[in-house]
Amino acid sequence: MKTALITGASGGIGKSFAEIFAQQGYNLILVARSKDKLEQLSDKYEQDYGIVVTVFSVDLSRQNAATEIYSEIQKRKIRIDILINNAGFGDHGRFIVSSLSKTRNMINLNILTLTELTSIFIKEMMKNRDGKILNIASTASFQPLPRFAVYAASKSYVLNFTEALHYELKGSGVSVSVLCPGPTATEFEKSANIKDSNLFKGKLMDPQRVAKIGYDGLMKGKMTIIPGFKNKLLAFFANMMPSRDLLVWISSKIS
Ligand SMILES: NC(=O)c1ccc[n+]([C@@H]2O[C@H](COP(=O)([O-])OP(=O)(O)OC[C@H]3O[C@@H](n4cnc5c(N)ncnc54)[C@H](OP(=O)(O)O)[C@@H]3O)[C@@H](O)[C@H]2O)c1
Repeated sequence: MKTALITGASGGIGKSFAEIFAQQGYNLILVARSKDKLEQLSDKYEQDYGIVVTVFSVDLSRQNAATEIYSEIQKRKIRIDILINNAGFGDHGRFIVSSLSKTRNMINLNILTLTELTSIFIKEMMKNRDGKILNIASTASFQPLPRFAVYAASKSYVLNFTEALHYELKGSGVSVSVLCPGPTATEFEKSANIKDSNLFKGKLMDPQRVAKIGYDGLMKGKMTIIPGFKNKLLAFFANMMPSRDLLVWISSKIS
């Protein structure tokens, strides 16, 4: 039986990924901070789908979180076939008044731990010449976003890093994909403290749909997966913009 490791699996898009992989008969390793939520999901999936679920309650913004998870997995002699690097958060507001420790945690979680987990598990997957990784970026990856400066930049990193890696891995049997959701109905808006912004004013996508599109794209080995027509359009126009000044001015009206 294959095993999928999913970070940020206690809620939102990550929980929807966990549900899909459980339905497909994968054993799961679920990671997030909320131990109770993870244990509830573990009981449910083991009962409903007859799979084995291991939970790790870990703060992934801590230094060395990735290596700690890896050593726990090695102890249990589990082979990871799928890695979903989903855990992430944002912090809305002007950079000048943002908290440095929150910014550091965001960079550690959105960039550092994601890169470390990718580095660790890609080497294991390459030994088997088999495996798939999905990194969760955002439509925020496609342009600078005033009042969401560090978050959008962190997601640009995830997009560019993953696309470059996808190219490096061509023909290796291992694939890496990036999912760029737009505004989605999860706890993200609340945890990012989004106020006085047009970002979440329209219709939000539901996390189950986003995860299903991500799952299908991952299985096909696609490089970049953008769920929803509106989000695809946004990415297209951001790439076509004739000047960076115009791009950042337009995004300031949205963010
Ligand atoms: N919702 C959107 O509009 C949207 C749009 C584009 C991209 N995204 C991206 O999609 C991904 C999932 O977000 P979501 O929308 O599902 O948000 P969410 O509902 O807030 O879920 C975030 C998940 O990450 C976990 N998490 C947060 N901080 C963590 C930490 N320090 N250590 C370990 N786990 C942590 C949370 O669990 P615990 O609190 O239990 O740790 C939770 O399971 C993120 O990377 C986000 O940037 C979201």
